[in-house]
Amino acid sequence: MTMSVADRIFLRVNRFHTERIAVAWGGRHILHGRKPRSGDIVLTSNDHLALAREPYIIGAMCAALQNASGGAPPSGVFLHGPDHPQIALERTLAEHMRAAAGILCQSGWDANAGLLQSIADVHTPVYVDHIAHMSFWHGAKTAGAPVYSFRHNFPGHLREEIRRHGPGIIAVDSIYGTNGSRSPLTQICDVADETGSVLVVDESHSLGTDGPYGAGMVVALGLTDRVPFRIASLATAFAGRAGFIAANSIDFVDYFKMESDPAVFSATLLPHDIAGLAATLEVVRVDDWRRVRLREISAVVRRALMALEFDLEGSASHIVALQTGPDERTIAIRDFLEARGVFGSVLCWPVTAPERALIRFSLHAGLTDMQVDRLIQVCAEVRDIFGAMAPMWHERPRLEPPAAQLVPTR
Ligand SMILES: Cc1ncc(COP(=O)(O)O)c(C=O)c1O
Repeated sequence: MTMSVADRIFLRVNRFHTERIAVAWGGRHILHGRKPRSGDIVLTSNDHLALAREPYIIGAMCAALQNASGGAPPSGVFLHGPDHPQIALERTLAEHMRAAAGILCQSGWDANAGLLQSIADVHTPVYVDHIAHMSFWHGAKTAGAPVYSFRHNFPGHLREEIRRHGPGIIAVDSIYGTNGSRSPLTQICDVADETGSVLVVDESHSLGTDGPYGAGMVVALGLTDRVPFRIASLATAFAGRAGFIAANSIDFVDYFKMESDPAVFSATLLPHDIAGLAATLEVVRVDDWRRVRLREISAVVRRALMALEFDLEGSASHIVALQTGPDERTIAIRDFLEARGVFGSVLCWPVTAPERALIRFSLHAGLTDMQVDRLIQVCAEVRDIFGAMAPMWHERPRLEPPAAQLVPTR
């Protein structure tokens, strides 16, 4: 008997609830632990410069809300004129990143997906670092482009793949959001130049935190002329809800706004988003102490966790992650951390490979020395109780849900 479409959908939903929630997670959601209380150390947001509660930024957003003329703006393609606050902010952000032009998007996802969709096509392969952000894959697939992944941070493998499949678009993150490793950007630029490919760098985790005045890693490395496109989520160090594309061509702006699906078919940002981001940019540029503090804290935490023999998978930034492995071990470590007042983000399939979950600590400039010491002390307890290494996926028996639970019960 063939199943109806509705039954097939129901089966998929049911499988998620049985295989993952009921069996793998023992009836509890892997992402939903206890709620943080005052005094806890919360390292779940990517507000790396600790700007989310900055009164100057909140004031700018409130003023914009009070002055709002009402109604969500339609697609950003309708906005024009150098004095429009959104267009003016695009220009200021582009200058900040030392780019010719810039485009504000509704999110980092929309920036990446819209960019790849509008520059790749069926004849233009896209080469994506194996752990680069999913939005690149999504945009490339929407463009109908052939997509090839290359080994994480391995320019030699990238070169081999381009030799095999031809020049195309290379997509990397400057700092990888899962493990905090940094891309070898200069070598990636060399491969792009040698092969006649075009490089896109996602600066979501380096804009604001790296480079002069927080201009990002591409500026810090002197690579602006060699990277035609940079994108950034502004939900990280800018603590807002938007994305940005920095482009080396002014002509690209109008093209993108008419050709990328998220720009054309989805409402643009709200005036108070723009006011908040403009104020945030001012603070980011002036408050160098936040970057200095973040670098100090990050170095201390990385050194301590490596001394405890945690494998930080090459973290060289303000993102560090404990490799917790199987889901049930991850939940046990999450509970252990939370019981001691430390909150990280659980990243599991589909963000990581199955059975390779991790608990990520997004460090931020607002952490006190006492909090940093406490974090390290609790991680030492994790090491003593659970061990520093996650078991390899093939070292544990696979849990099978009872077959009867997979049958639709509607
Ligand atoms: C590297 C990277 N790029 C893009 C995104 C997507 O950004 P947003 O959350 O603004 O859509 C994220 C956020 O998860 C990210 O870490």
